[in-house]
Amino acid sequence: MNILVTGGAGYVGSVCAEILITHGHAVFVFDNLSVGYRRAVPQSAVFFEGDLADRQALDRLFAAHQIEAVMHFAAFALVEESVRKPSAYYVNNVANSIQLLDAMVRHRVKKLIFSSSAAIYGEPKIAPIPEEHQAAPINPYGHTKLTFERILEDCGAATGLQYACLRYFNAAGATRERGEDHRPETHLIPILLQVALGQRPNFPINGTDYPTHDGTCIRDFVHVFDIAEAHVLALDQLERISGHVFNIGSNRGHSVREALETARRVTGHPIPVVEASRRPGDPAILVASSQKTERVLGWRPQFSSLSTIVESAWAWKQKFPFGYGEDRQAAP
Ligand code: UFG
Repeated sequence: MNILVTGGAGYVGSVCAEILITHGHAVFVFDNLSVGYRRAVPQSAVFFEGDLADRQALDRLFAAHQIEAVMHFAAFALVEESVRKPSAYYVNNVANSIQLLDAMVRHRVKKLIFSSSAAIYGEPKIAPIPEEHQAAPINPYGHTKLTFERILEDCGAATGLQYACLRYFNAAGATRERGEDHRPETHLIPILLQVALGQRPNFPINGTDYPTHDGTCIRDFVHVFDIAEAHVLALDQLERISGHVFNIGSNRGHSVREALETARRVTGHPIPVVEASRRPGDPAILVASSQKTERVLGWRPQFSSLSTIVESAWAWKQKFPFGYGEDRQAAP
């Protein structure tokens, strides 16, 4: 199938492009490189540098290629940043996504897989969280993802679009060639590994007074390869599952301190810590129930144990110490 991957130069999008290619699909990546890297795009993908706000660029792309399905990853995705810059998040994650949707309608492209987020659940009342749990985001990022899910519901009904929303929990880990490289880096596992490699002096624990067993936040880490496989399964079965939302998580929570201990064990580095204050917008506990995803999609996460995730991220970090950059600019 000819598949357009928006945000295919970013972390999850580039891995998904890689896995789609291994499944025999032709991949077209559209990315404005604002946070992604040209070097993350697989060589056999066709690359278009462009912005979703650019209607003509989208029209040219859809007119030139027989795109049959879209996987939509292009978005800003940092909770804390979204609290500081909400309007930028609404413009990029909602307004620009509507541009994409309208272009799909103009060019009669009927299949879409949307990259949604566990952030839509806000401060959940239970763990693990099933999909039918109330959606009540506590930060602008979560609001933008929920808003676009609702837009899809309405547009799906009006246009016959087939779509599925995949709500990722904490994407983590790496394939051989592709891993996590944000600038500035704010994510837990990459920061732990930067300390292990001597690129940062210590690891700040963001809050030690959460109502959890060790006082630190609990997250559900899911390997980026397993996330990509969920996309392939969702697309294969889209006709049957259209309109559904799916949690993409491992069913298991690990605290920030547990991730720290795992990183110490995997890297053999002591990773010194400083105890810092809470980060705005962080819910205490986010753990997925992925029962529905397993039952309905037949998804079986293979690499989502915390050890395997950290081992794969560490292998990538050692191979590419400065990520997709070539020099020290790539560190923090
Ligand atoms: N953390 C630290 N120190 C750091 C970095 C992170 O203690 O130096 C903590 C955070 O405060 C949080 C936990 O580690 O408690 C995980 O933080 P990440 O930044 O790695 O991930 P988030 O849980 O904030 O967010 C990620 C994605 C979001 C998505 C969310 C859903 O970035 O897009 O998972 O679970 F919404």
